[in-house]
Amino acid sequence: MPSILLIGVTGLIGSHLVLALKEKHPELPVTVLVRNKTIDTYLSETAAVKRIVHGSFDEKDKIVALAKEHDIVINVGSSWDVPLSESIVEGLKQQPEGKKRTLIHMSGTGNFVDKRWVDGATHAEAKVWDDNNPEDMKLINPTMLNGGPDTVVLNHGKDGKTGTYIIYPSGVYGEAAGPIPAHGVIQFVYREKAKELGFVPYIGEGTAVFNSLHIKAVIPFVLQVLDLALKDATPQGSVYERCFLIGGTETKYKDIAEAFAEVLYNEGVIASPVAKSVDRKGAGEGELPMLMSSDMRFVSNRAKKLGYKNEEVSLVEYLRSKKSTK
Ligand SMILES: NC(=O)c1ccc[n+]([C@@H]2O[C@H](COP(=O)([O-])OP(=O)(O)OC[C@H]3O[C@@H](n4cnc5c(N)ncnc54)[C@H](OP(=O)(O)O)[C@@H]3O)[C@@H](O)[C@H]2O)c1
Ligand SMILES: *[C@@H]1O[C@H](CO)[C@@H](O)[C@H](O)[C@H]1NC(C)=O
Repeated sequence: MPSILLIGVTGLIGSHLVLALKEKHPELPVTVLVRNKTIDTYLSETAAVKRIVHGSFDEKDKIVALAKEHDIVINVGSSWDVPLSESIVEGLKQQPEGKKRTLIHMSGTGNFVDKRWVDGATHAEAKVWDDNNPEDMKLINPTMLNGGPDTVVLNHGKDGKTGTYIIYPSGVYGEAAGPIPAHGVIQFVYREKAKELGFVPYIGEGTAVFNSLHIKAVIPFVLQVLDLALKDATPQGSVYERCFLIGGTETKYKDIAEAFAEVLYNEGVIASPVAKSVDRKGAGEGELPMLMSSDMRFVSNRAKKLGYKNEEVSLVEYLRSKKSTK
């Protein structure tokens, strides 16, 4: 049975994925690379992980050796860390000639914001990216939010020896599974920005479009991509035809800010439940102001052909229900 190396098991996405693998593919032995040494019992007993390796993304030799030993590498640990993806690729390259190898990389649609407008307003002419159009996928490059590792993975896949599959979810919300309460990237950056400014911001009129999906919509699709990789004896199509964009509801940043402000106020993170409009400078540094300034628009035609569905609650509905249970 093909072995899996899972990177990022304590995160929002990884914590659900490891349990889904146990449920849907109990026959596949899973190794995890994890830096938190306190959850080994949970990982082996509850999550049925076969092998636990303690380590961090900067331990290059360890990651190269692990990627060399496993048939399938799933990286839900970082879409920014270029050396991590380079180490994985180096290990895969060291596998015996002719052996089937697979890399499933999780990136994000933060690549696909239309920075021609940065005023926080929506623009009807904003680019709508299509995962079913290889010409769109060929535009992915290292200047994009997650484009560094994407480029490493895409280039590696071009020799046809490794089946590379990249999944680009939009903002992911929901609760982590397991003992570590990871917020995941988007919920984390909203929380940190609220702490930094003392309120939840949006830019200008806040009509720019954000796309997001619940963690429960992400996991079945990762399993569908895994099944595709298991089924195909050799990788089908070009590397650009193995990129999948997945999302859910399109929401205005103003509505998201208002919903987060109420939740973070209830949790005692900020002193007022009122979101505020600021200019680009007033939102400070980081990933969130970059996202909030512009529209993020895409369609999931390729992912839908593979079976992607989203029937979960929207981000605003999710945050409202969270608030009422506090
Ligand atoms: N959540 C979103 O909104 C979203 C949207 C689109 C794409 N993505 C992408 O999907 C992937 C997973 O996202 P997530 O939200 O699940 O992230 P997350 O909750 O922040 O989880 C990150 C995982 O990587 C591990 N990790 C981070 N740095 C590490 C290091 N230096 N050494 C060892 N382990 C390290 C974390 O371990 P620790 O527990 O030890 O920190 C955790 O297991 C990321 O690449 C993210 O960019 C996320
Ligand atoms: C490690 O996991 C424990 C839960 O067992 C958690 O309380 C702790 O915060 C985690 N440590 C780090 C550094 O994330």
